[in-house]
Amino acid sequence: MKKNILITGGAGFIGSHVVRLFVNKYPEYHVVNLDSLTYAGNLENLKDIEKATNYTFVKGDITDEAFINQLFEQYHFEGVIHLAAESHVDRSITDPLAFAKTNILGTMVLLNAFKKLWTNNWTGKRFYHISTDEVYGTLGETGLFTETTPYDPNSPYSASKASSDHFVRAYGETYGLPYVITNCSNNYGPNQFPEKLIPLFIHNIINQKALPVYGDGKYTRDWLYVVDHAVAINLVYHQGKNHETYNIGGFNEWQNIDLIKVLCQQMDNKLGRPEGTSEQLITYVKDRPGHDLRYAIDASKINQELGWKPSVSFEEGLSKTIDWYLSNTEWLAHVTSGTYQEYYQKQYKQ
Ligand code: NAD
Ligand code: TYD
Repeated sequence: MKKNILITGGAGFIGSHVVRLFVNKYPEYHVVNLDSLTYAGNLENLKDIEKATNYTFVKGDITDEAFINQLFEQYHFEGVIHLAAESHVDRSITDPLAFAKTNILGTMVLLNAFKKLWTNNWTGKRFYHISTDEVYGTLGETGLFTETTPYDPNSPYSASKASSDHFVRAYGETYGLPYVITNCSNNYGPNQFPEKLIPLFIHNIINQKALPVYGDGKYTRDWLYVVDHAVAINLVYHQGKNHETYNIGGFNEWQNIDLIKVLCQQMDNKLGRPEGTSEQLITYVKDRPGHDLRYAIDASKINQELGWKPSVSFEEGLSKTIDWYLSNTEWLAHVTSGTYQEYYQKQYKQ
């Protein structure tokens, strides 16, 4: 009998990399990918493994309690890796309730279903909640987020993720639910929906459209290549300690404007355009409300306890990412048709 593992949000950006890793690496697991296929979920991300015998896709919503309970009864999931979420800060500013519903209520529905199934029989079970460094709020010019930094979320997105983290921890304390949480910095790489900074700017450079830099562009993020995140998730799922939190980061801080300039140079080079062409597209636009100045992760705990570190340098990861978008023009065309255009016009008022 294969062990049933549930991965939620597996048709999204990070989830699809996690699903691929688990399906290929663990023939002894049966991986069920549960995803409601919002605008961010895309089964094209998983074409290479969709026929694997140890993989099943289920379309469904994590907030649908009856459906989720039935699914847990059907598969008796021994492990859950929970990535499904509304994940974009700008969308959380226009529609905060959708974030509360999926990120808080959806997480609670999953926790309840897991508790119902395994209370008094927790041995060998694991609920792994994937979260973000944004729960810690913002840093000044110095300092790093550690696992003990107090939560101080500033956007509806980060507030909803912070709340879900608290519920996971509370189920651990109250019911003994065996959980682990990771809080990761900004991911980039293949299959990311072009509403986040790097894929949006790659898409706009290809199409020679303006590059909308919020505020003065001096905001700082720590960037991690998505495959390195998936590797960390695999490690924490199998070797992380119960009731622990691990921060995951790239040891790779960039001010937005500096990152954008490197991206422009690499794109000009790869597209055979004269140096400086893409930089001319940089346009400073109105700032994001409540914009966090700086995120930076101290990932020494996962490094020291589990031996994880990023495998790819930023220049290398960025180059691979650009190459992926340039050779997957059909993927990009599909996700930027239809409602994407409406979103873009509303967000950037063009
Ligand atoms: P994404 O938006 O690309 O994917 C989210 C997936 O969840 C999509 O496939 C979507 O269809 C699915 N989904 C949304 N609502 C659902 C619902 N109600 N029921 C079932 N499925 C639903 O997001 P991502 O960037 O891959 O992020 C995945 C997780 O990692 C999220 O929990 C996010 O908070 C966290 N995270 C992301 C980053 C990042 O930089 N992208 C960094 C740290 C943590
Ligand atoms: P984003 O990719 O949305 O991730 P997050 O908000 O979770 O960090 O944004 C990364 C940074 O880039 C953030 O400081 C906001 C900025 N940004 C822009 O300047 N312009 C844009 O069009 C977008 C989407 C982001």
